[in-house]
Amino acid sequence: MKKLTIKFDKDFYLSIIIGVFGMLTALGMFALSGYMISKSALGTPLYALMILIVTIKLFGFVRAITRYFERLYSHRSTFTMLRDIRVELFNHLIPIVPNVFRRYRSSDLLTQMVNNVERLQNILLRVYYPPIVIILTTFITILVMINFNIYAGIVIGISMFISVILIPYLSSKRANLLAMQVQQSEEDYVAEYFDFENGRSELKRFQQFVNFKEKVFKKQNQYEQKKYKEQKFLSTYDFMLNLSSMVSIWCMTILCIWQIQDGVLNAVFFASILMITITLFEQAIPMTNVAFYKADTERSLQNIEEVINQSFDEINGGSVHSDALYNAKNLTFKYDFQERPTLKNINFEIEKGQHVAIIGPSGSGKTTLLNLLMGLYSVNEGVLSYNKELLSQIDKEAYVDEINTMLQHNHYFEGTVRENLLIEAKDEEMKQVLSTVNLSYLDLDQQLTKNAENISGGERQRLSMARLLLRSAQIWMLDEPTASLDEHNEENIMHHLLNKDDTIIIVTHNLKYLQSFDHIIVMNEGEILEQGSYAQLMKDKGYLSEVIYYNEQLV
Ligand SMILES: Nc1ncnc2c1ncn2[C@@H]1O[C@H](COP(=O)(O)OP(=O)(O)OP(=O)(O)O)[C@@H](O)[C@H]1O
Ligand SMILES: [Mg+2]
Repeated sequence: MKKLTIKFDKDFYLSIIIGVFGMLTALGMFALSGYMISKSALGTPLYALMILIVTIKLFGFVRAITRYFERLYSHRSTFTMLRDIRVELFNHLIPIVPNVFRRYRSSDLLTQMVNNVERLQNILLRVYYPPIVIILTTFITILVMINFNIYAGIVIGISMFISVILIPYLSSKRANLLAMQVQQSEEDYVAEYFDFENGRSELKRFQQFVNFKEKVFKKQNQYEQKKYKEQKFLSTYDFMLNLSSMVSIWCMTILCIWQIQDGVLNAVFFASILMITITLFEQAIPMTNVAFYKADTERSLQNIEEVINQSFDEINGGSVHSDALYNAKNLTFKYDFQERPTLKNINFEIEKGQHVAIIGPSGSGKTTLLNLLMGLYSVNEGVLSYNKELLSQIDKEAYVDEINTMLQHNHYFEGTVRENLLIEAKDEEMKQVLSTVNLSYLDLDQQLTKNAENISGGERQRLSMARLLLRSAQIWMLDEPTASLDEHNEENIMHHLLNKDDTIIIVTHNLKYLQSFDHIIVMNEGEILEQGSYAQLMKDKGYLSEVIYYNEQLV
């Protein structure tokens, strides 16, 4: 498990020293103010009061300066930390981009990660910094107090313990739970809402609009209720803290009066002690949100580490013992958040230059297997190797250049046909491949709308093929490349492909061309049912031979 490193730099320690100094200055300033009030009540000469006032002003001035430097150093330290975390996170992400980005939609992942890093800014400022400063300050104050008035020191010690440690600690678990519930119900609500927004016309067509709308409202209500519950709890928490500080101040007042009556305490210090207590609480209470921020930042850290680690767990694999171009050995694959593996016990070898067909019923895992071969996902167990190296460990950028891939759903851009061919090539070459795929009637400068909606499904598929024909990659992985084509165009494309010396792996539902493949992998429910050459499979009289037999009967 890889952990993110949170570094505490020099600035952080400096900000703590200055912070403690600043708080002590504030305490001193208020103690002196209390002393001055008592003195003036007792009729001290004006010049003595003037000296006190000037000293208090001086304290105020020092306090302002410490505030400035405390902020400067603590913020600088925070931004340095965030910068380092961002660099570390992206350094981790870059080598594993295809895996991670296929699991999350890329924009979601980036938004999530940016928010998570952003939330980490509270780590120093709100999680580590406040308790250290408040504990150090309270400790110094108690030490001074004990020398001066031991009982007052004890009262401060106990009351600070209750308000700053005990109550926040007891509340933090509940607060964390409530915050998680709010986050969860917010995600549920947002997901439902966008589902509703995107599916408006479908819902209307199937008369489900009102039902779905009610579901969205229900989620919204749930979210608002959770939010309300959290707010209520936070208000109670705030009330508890204020109550405990008020009780402490009252205790201190009673203690002082009692001591004055007994002649233990000089009345002139009464106001000072009270001022110190009030100031200490005033500074400490806002810092007691540590527990909440801690929970929040911990969740963010966990999210970031989860993404980083996902890839690291995958890059362990086993060792490769095959000279084949591709080798799968006891391969198992499970999509995230799924209970059952989508692929299991997968074993095969694909030699360089072989033409391989992957067939099987819908949902049997053909696309998933092809995606693994493309390096878009990594295996959970077992081995998948390419050129005697684990596919998860090879340089993905170089690999992408070596393969020609066509997915079940391809992307097209708003722009000309030429731009959609996605390559710098001579017009002649482009026209040549367009003609190969029977698209010579398309002009290179013809404008395509978003997702090429202004050409037909079959034309889009042939355009995808034209793109690939312009590349020089020698490994082809095609997911139902002729699914939208008529028989004539299909034959043209298959003929063209199967005449190549390249390695070709095609997922297909079409049994017609199977005889022309060197190797056929038959999948069913995530497993390989049978594999071999066409002749071998026919001889074995297994699944494929049966399917072909029934098809022939139908014809
Ligand atoms: N992104 C995904 N997340 C979770 N499960 C998935 C995902 N993609 C596919 N599956 C599940 O994995 C199984 C295999 O899907 P796959 O797309 O590989 O099937 P297929 O053989 O290509 O089917 P088809 O012939 O319909 O294209 C299915 O049960 C599907 O529900
Ligand atoms: Mg598929």
